[in-house]
Amino acid sequence: METVRLGIVGMGQRTVYHGLLPEVKRCKGMKITALCEIKEDRLKKGLDDYQGELGYDIAGHTDFAEFLAADAADAVYIATPNYTHRDLTEQAVAGGVDVLCEKPMDITVPNCDAMIEAAKKHNKILAIGQQMNYRKRYHKVMELIENGDLGEPTMLSCVEYRGPFKEMKDWVWQKKYSGGAIVEKNCHHYGLLDWWAKGKPTQVYASGGQKKLASVGGHKSELIDNAYVLADYDSGARSLVSICFLSTHGHHFREFTVTGTEGRVWFNNKDGEIIHFENGHKDIKEDFKIDENLRGGMLQDFVDCVRERKEPLMTGEHGRASLLIPVAAQLSLERGQPVDISEVDTRQQ
Ligand SMILES: NC(=O)c1ccc[n+]([C@@H]2O[C@H](COP(=O)([O-])OP(=O)(O)OC[C@H]3O[C@@H](n4cnc5c(N)ncnc54)[C@H](O)[C@@H]3O)[C@@H](O)[C@H]2O)c1
Repeated sequence: METVRLGIVGMGQRTVYHGLLPEVKRCKGMKITALCEIKEDRLKKGLDDYQGELGYDIAGHTDFAEFLAADAADAVYIATPNYTHRDLTEQAVAGGVDVLCEKPMDITVPNCDAMIEAAKKHNKILAIGQQMNYRKRYHKVMELIENGDLGEPTMLSCVEYRGPFKEMKDWVWQKKYSGGAIVEKNCHHYGLLDWWAKGKPTQVYASGGQKKLASVGGHKSELIDNAYVLADYDSGARSLVSICFLSTHGHHFREFTVTGTEGRVWFNNKDGEIIHFENGHKDIKEDFKIDENLRGGMLQDFVDCVRERKEPLMTGEHGRASLLIPVAAQLSLERGQPVDISEVDTRQQ
């Protein structure tokens, strides 16, 4: 295939208002041929923005079945609310189209299983938009771990201080649509922490609540705005993630740490994401500043995989794995008790 005909489904924050167009313009080997959005006004805005920037005509649809029937695309980027991911992915692969589905892969593990099965059955590519895993700097952290420079990864953390989700996401506030705040947001973080922990999660305990975000911009919210999630891994490692939506003045802070038996790394966004590394045993201290993306980033990787029929960096298996702790954490929040991962991991049942 010379040029991939790419369709985009969902003209919302991710694809229109969040600034995806620069990435689309950089991407080689594809042409945007169709957009699909159920809301007429957003479809119009999407078409205006994409056609205006790209300089060619793009088809518009308000119904995904119609979009597929028009045979306007070889591959599709699904960026719709979380609860729609399974249904749209199954329709797409059955319709002969490869899929890049946004994170979280879905809101339940059985739905992830069904998506993986459907892609396999129809021999279609299923990539998941865990874009953080494409950053080369995070692969540098893994390289230090693989080289043994940190010893055994033992204590991992992600601390975040941010504001609430955007008001325009009218579905995110109810758990039955988003899966909850931890599913919506922290699958990104577990895509990294689980990988660096070099183990499989075994047990999760989450403690959290809602202090001040019972409503956001007219939306009544069920979501927690403060929580800690503690997870154990079969490797003997443990991770701690803090979820904090309490910033109301636009401040955003996020810091990761990986502490091993011989050394540690840490980095945060206020510091330009410089990877600080120290190994007390060998008396080494080093900083790494790495900005590039692996495989050209999420979209370029997907397009290349569609053209060359190869496996994307972040597959359905990765998307499923990064959902296990968030789903168990949401359950733990409800129960006020630790949850064994086997309860949510269908493959252990
Ligand atoms: N990777 C990232 O950094 C990142 C960032 C933001 C959002 N996301 C993910 O992207 C997805 C979309 O999030 P968003 O913030 O853009 O939400 P959004 O609500 O702003 O946009 C989603 C759009 O999808 C449309 N839609 C719903 N059902 C549809 C259907 N069946 N067919 C066509 N269109 C449909 C909605 O009308 C809406 O306009 C979510 O899964 C979210 O988690 C990922």
